Amino acid sequence: MNIQINDTPVVAGENETLIEAARRAGFDIPSLCYAKGAAHKSSCMICAVKDCRTGQIIPSCTTLPTEGMRIDTLGDEVVQTRMLSLELLLSDHRADCEAPCTLVCPHGLDVERMLSCYDAGLTEAALRIIAAAFPLPDIKCISCKAPCEKACRRGTIDRAVGIRGIIREICEQGADAATDRREGEAAASGRAGFLSRLGRFTDGEKDRLKASVASPSRCLHCACAGQGGCKLREYAGRMGIKRSRYEAASVSPAMSRQCIGEGMWFEPAKCIRCGLCVYNSANGFTFRSRGFVMQVVLPDENRANIDGSLAELCPTGAIYLDKKKEKVL
Ligand code: SF4
Ligand code: SF4
Ligand code: SF4
Ligand code: FES
Repeated sequence: MNIQINDTPVVAGENETLIEAARRAGFDIPSLCYAKGAAHKSSCMICAVKDCRTGQIIPSCTTLPTEGMRIDTLGDEVVQTRMLSLELLLSDHRADCEAPCTLVCPHGLDVERMLSCYDAGLTEAALRIIAAAFPLPDIKCISCKAPCEKACRRGTIDRAVGIRGIIREICEQGADAATDRREGEAAASGRAGFLSRLGRFTDGEKDRLKASVASPSRCLHCACAGQGGCKLREYAGRMGIKRSRYEAASVSPAMSRQCIGEGMWFEPAKCIRCGLCVYNSANGFTFRSRGFVMQVVLPDENRANIDGSLAELCPTGAIYLDKKKEKVL
């Protein structure tokens, strides 16, 4: 099949979709609900391209080329369709990419990771993270006005995490701390690019979190544990989106983490309902309800039917592998 993509002649193979032919020819097209080799149905429209003969915007992940087709993957209409699609997905996404406390620390301390280590009893690791931000024993927190505690999400539920007190406690326990520059750099790099913000908790969410989060620090661990492979964040960053234009609203409860297997977690509020986990697990994930209130769920009786490959397939941080999280919140 002879087609043109951005005025470049391309020969598309039999049963090869436009996205596959375009990528093979070196054109970058984003995709969320499509993954090569996986069962899928087009829903996100992030892979939009323009059919120049009809003027139509079409999903490239399900469209098979026809002879003489001329495709535009770069024009303004295409870019605007992709941006709008992404922004609509983000409007249904109540989650923090990065922890508020970490974002505001003027010294670049990765507060949330430090608290994760503290909660896990890993004092030396917590101390190394602190030492990456401050040349110990000069703990800058003593003279700091603690914007981390003012930004703390736990403070909107009952009382902010006592971050400075915990830092002092860790430092008093610590011996010689080897600095690990990578920790500090990771915290600083989180400030660039796209940031999804959770917004306000509902009263029901406050009650649930107050009753269920009982770690030593009382930290909610706001930073997205599944952010490593998140294509949603990556594409938003690439398109120059810094924050969602719309107030985020979701039918799924914020910060609800379900352990769905050994070291495997599902956070419904981060799901974009692309369906990849549904179409690629037999009697595993499934859709519940229809329309705007449609949700992706994993019924308890289906848990034995899924495996870690779904974490790879999920385009957001909704399904992820993380051995640190120990409880259903
Ligand atoms: S799933 Fe992606 S966009 Fe959402 S909070 Fe996590 S990293 Fe950010
Ligand atoms: S709850 Fe924990 S991670 Fe969230 S802002 Fe407060 S200290 Fe940071
Ligand atoms: S959990 Fe992930 S793979 Fe499943 S529908 Fe939601 S975003 Fe898609
Ligand atoms: S990747 Fe094509 S519609 Fe989602």
